[in-house]
Parts: sequence; C-alpha cells; structure tokens
Amino acid sequence: MKKIGVLTGGGDCPGLNAVIRAVVRKSIQYDWDIIGIKNGWKGLINGEIELLTDYSVSGILPKGGTIIGTSRTNPFNNKEDVQRLVENIKKFGIDAIVAIGGDDTLRVANKLHKMGVSIVGVPKTIDNDLSGTDYTFGFDTAISIVTEAIDRLHTTAESHHRVIVVEVMGRHAGWIATMAGIAGGADEILIPEVPFDINEVCKHLKDRYERGKKFSIIAVAEGAHPKVENSSNADNMESSSQNVGEAALVIQTKEKDAFGNVRLGGIGHTLAKEIEKRMGVETRVTILGHVQRGGTPTAHDRVLATRFGVAAVESIKDENFGIMVALQGDKIVPVPLEEATSKSKTVDMELYEIAKLFFG
Ligand code: F6P
Repeated sequence: MKKIGVLTGGGDCPGLNAVIRAVVRKSIQYDWDIIGIKNGWKGLINGEIELLTDYSVSGILPKGGTIIGTSRTNPFNNKEDVQRLVENIKKFGIDAIVAIGGDDTLRVANKLHKMGVSIVGVPKTIDNDLSGTDYTFGFDTAISIVTEAIDRLHTTAESHHRVIVVEVMGRHAGWIATMAGIAGGADEILIPEVPFDINEVCKHLKDRYERGKKFSIIAVAEGAHPKVENSSNADNMESSSQNVGEAALVIQTKEKDAFGNVRLGGIGHTLAKEIEKRMGVETRVTILGHVQRGGTPTAHDRVLATRFGVAAVESIKDENFGIMVALQGDKIVPVPLEEATSKSKTVDMELYEIAKLFFG
C-alpha cells in the first residue's frame, strides 16, 4: 500500500482536473491512497491536504480549473519553508508526489527530487513552452478559444474597416499566437522569439490595404517586443513603455511573483496606438487574458491529460522518479525533470515561416 500526494502549481489550465481524476483512478487500481495537496507547494508547506477518493473526482473531467487549488509558491525562497515541506511529507506518510505544473513548479520538483523526494512531474501550461514534450495539456483548449475569438474579430474588423490587435498569452514563447494565428488566418503574428519592426508591420498592413483588404487582424503574444538593436525603430514607438532593460517588454507592474516573473500585458495597446498614428486607420484592441485559461478542456486536452495522469502513476509503480511524463510523437515517455526545465521550448521557426506566408 502506497500513499501518493498530488498537487497543481502555477497558473491554472484546462485539463488539470482530468489529470487529477486519472491519477486517482489509476492509483485506486493499485489500492493506493491519494492525498490532494491544496494550492500547490503552499499546501505542503502549511500542511493543507485532503483525501481524494473515487467519489471526490467523479464528474470533474470536463471542469476547468483545479479542484485542489493552485498558487505560485516557491518553497526555495525560504529555508524554513523547505524544512516544513519535507517534514510534512514525512508527517503525512507520503511515499511519492505527482506535481502537475509548468516550468516553475517542475523546477521545484527537480530540486526536491535531488534532495531525495520521490517525484514525478506532469507538464501543464497553456503556453506550451515546456521542453521535452511535443505538447502540454491546456494548450489545445487555449488555441481553440483564441481561434474562435479571431474568427469573431474578423467579421467586426471587416465591417468597420479596422485593424484589430488581439493580445494573447505567451510569456517566453509565442505558441498560442502562432498556432491560433495560423488557424484563425491572422494577417500578422508577433511573438517573443522574433522581435518585430514596427515599420515592417505597417508596411504589410499598407500592402494589404492597397490590395483592397481594408481590415486586418494582428495576433500578438504578451511577451512580444520591438527590435532593440535597431534603436530608431524602438525609439519611434513612442508609446512603448520600456524600450531598454527587459528588451522592450510591456510590463504592467514591477512587482514579481515568487519565481521572479513580472506581470506582462499591454503590448496590444502599444501596438494599436502606433499603427493608428502611423497609418491613420481606426484600430482596436482585444486582450483575451485569462479567458484563455478558463473553462472546459477540449477533447484533445482531456485525453492527453488522462494519459499523462495514468503514466505518472505507472512511473511511480516502476519507481522511476525525477522525471516528467511527456508526449513525443504518439507516445507518452519519461523525460528527466532536469532536461524538461533546462530551457523554454520556443516556437519552431519552420512553423513560423508557414505562418509568415500569409502575412501582408
Ligand atoms: O500560465 C502561464 C501564463 O499563462 C503566462 O502566459 C502569463 O504571463 C501568466 O500565466 C499570467 O498568469 P497570472 O495572471 O495567473 O499570474
């Protein structure tokens, strides 16, 4: 008989409950007990847990969010927190932990693994920027939401002959902007991996107008920024709030979360002002924000999340710890946490080249 702890850390994402359900169901098959650790690493520091049963996970498959809560807590910011966390693992008799999270949560998991804690990671993020896995769950739902939004924005942009800038999530990587931009037929896709030149963006839009297309949709990732090496371009973007330091990112607040991430958001407005000023075309902005993270997961994400949950428990059964279950091709495989968290998975430039075929 084993006792497994499961936690969800970082930003929530559709499919978390599907993983929790799969972890519980598979563990029940082995006759193991499952403890839900509340609110990510915070719950393990504070000793907030609940027993998860077949009954508690019944009906949660299509539900967004996470029934056990989440937080952006970094126990390694404070020695005492790590001590309390380790003590609580012992106190509750937890034999192994399934940590469902993005890079920040899984980096903590990796550090704990190195300290001797038995941990298996599950890759979660709508941003799809974790290395070692082709896809994270939550991403498919996010791009479906964004694609639908772009479709809707098309009809209103076309009717009013406007430019509409749609800002989407994507801190280090522009997967959402690229994939939803391709699916929705965006006329320009701006991502953190490829700093943009505002002159070129406006030139593309002008070319479109000259060809008779009197409206445009621009998909921009929150982490996108203008080229800084060409200072004249960056300086020309009057409304860009920060053209130096953090590579011209638009930062909402200087406050950082426990992992040192600043809150992004606003590049859409900066861009829209600039386009309107330079082109004299009415421009509007839609910031999709947390709508992308909420609500029910797509069928694809439900299946992927379920496969990840089952694989995580199988990995515990095999005593294969310090790994993240990952999707590679059609198979779920173990990838060392070290490798998965070593760097962000950025947009494949071959894919971005395909997207670019449709710009201008
Ligand atoms: O989950 C990652 C992410 O979606 C980033 O793209 C975004 O910057 C961040 O979450 C915002 O999360 P929150 O508002 O919860 O801090």
